[in-house]
Amino acid sequence: MTKVLVTGGTGYIGSHTVVELLNSGYEVVVIDNLCNSYIKVVDCIEKITGKRPTFYNTDLLDSTALEAIFNTHQDIAAVIHFAAHKAVGESVKKPIDYYKNNVGATVMLVEAMLKHKIEALVFSSSCTVYGEPDTLPVTENMPVKPPVSPYGNTKKICEEVIRDCTKAYSLHAISLRYFNPIGAHPSALIGELPIGSPNNLMPIVTQTAIGKRNKMQIHGGDYTTPDGSCIRDYIHVVDIAKAHVIAVERMLKNKSAAPYEAFNLGTGHGNSVFEVIEAFERTSGVKLNYEVGAKRPGDVMSIYSDTTLANTVLGWKADYDLDEMVISSWAWEKNIQNIYPEL
Ligand code: NAD
Ligand code: UD1
Repeated sequence: MTKVLVTGGTGYIGSHTVVELLNSGYEVVVIDNLCNSYIKVVDCIEKITGKRPTFYNTDLLDSTALEAIFNTHQDIAAVIHFAAHKAVGESVKKPIDYYKNNVGATVMLVEAMLKHKIEALVFSSSCTVYGEPDTLPVTENMPVKPPVSPYGNTKKICEEVIRDCTKAYSLHAISLRYFNPIGAHPSALIGELPIGSPNNLMPIVTQTAIGKRNKMQIHGGDYTTPDGSCIRDYIHVVDIAKAHVIAVERMLKNKSAAPYEAFNLGTGHGNSVFEVIEAFERTSGVKLNYEVGAKRPGDVMSIYSDTTLANTVLGWKADYDLDEMVISSWAWEKNIQNIYPEL
């Protein structure tokens, strides 16, 4: 069995990817320091797949522990690197934490991979690298803009570090630029469950619906979009997870067109915040208590992907639509109390 190391594998996107890897016959080793996820995720992955990934509660910045893991698993064929901090607002207040954890850990991880002759890396990038785009939809060859936050800058810098390493060393890498991942696994056993307060739209919607919050805000209603709210390309997390398996296979079967490649992962469609709320209310039958508030600093008005490259080169496309995304997010929110009664 081919062994894949997944950093951040108990996190939101990582856990869904571990499920897809196990279901595709890979053996999986997870490294996560649980700074933004729960150990129970490993049990839930086992419930879904009938297989248990090897789990290390390890900080990627702990070079001794990282080295020990690579020594124990000499047969790792590829690495998928999700582990990072991802709260945009927090990154403005604590840039050192973000550069250290996101950029520092990536450098250390790549260095360890090179030492152990592991030549395939998938990196979690973001549409944030495009900033406020000049034209829509965005293609991969559009200019990468100066990032609006230290978080965004860490994604841009990591892409550059990795690309430079593919030029200098025997390394292949694929950066996957996610648009807005939402939704949860159809089993409702794993989903988005950050530690502390979420910042992203979908968990705020479902927390408001279930009564964990009294009210939510739409961040800005007077953008020059058709209904005044921001537009994003929401994509089901299971679709995102499947793309990682394809990216790993592409590199392991020597199908990469170049040592470094980047692909957008989106549906190619933009939806406004009001449209997400409408889809949620209609499919759940729950009325959301919301108000239109001020614009959130740093928000881009409108962004959605051109996915032609991922569709044609990777042979990947998003299968789920917005209704399926919000239905699965809601099923997950309703199941959280069953799995995590202590929360
Ligand atoms: P997440 O916070 O749920 O998962 C990240 C995981 O990494 C967590 O389990 C956390 O405990 C772990 N982690 C963080 N720092 C670590 C360290 N130093 N050592 C070991 N483990 C560490 O986040 P997510 O939404 O699953 O995002 C995964 C990746 O995708 C991140 O790199 C993120 O920047 C990127 N991304 C996410 C989105 C999104 O909207 N969720 C969009 C674009 C890109
Ligand atoms: C954000 C980050 C992005 C990061 C991604 C993953 C910013 C500017 N961008 O994307 O860099 O990769 O998260 O963590 O923070 N909204 C509301 N009310 C809410 C919450 C959100 O109206 O309570 C709106 C936002 O204004 C936005 C949309 O919902 O228009 C989506 O927001 P969010 O889920 O936070 O994602 P992004 O901001 O697109």
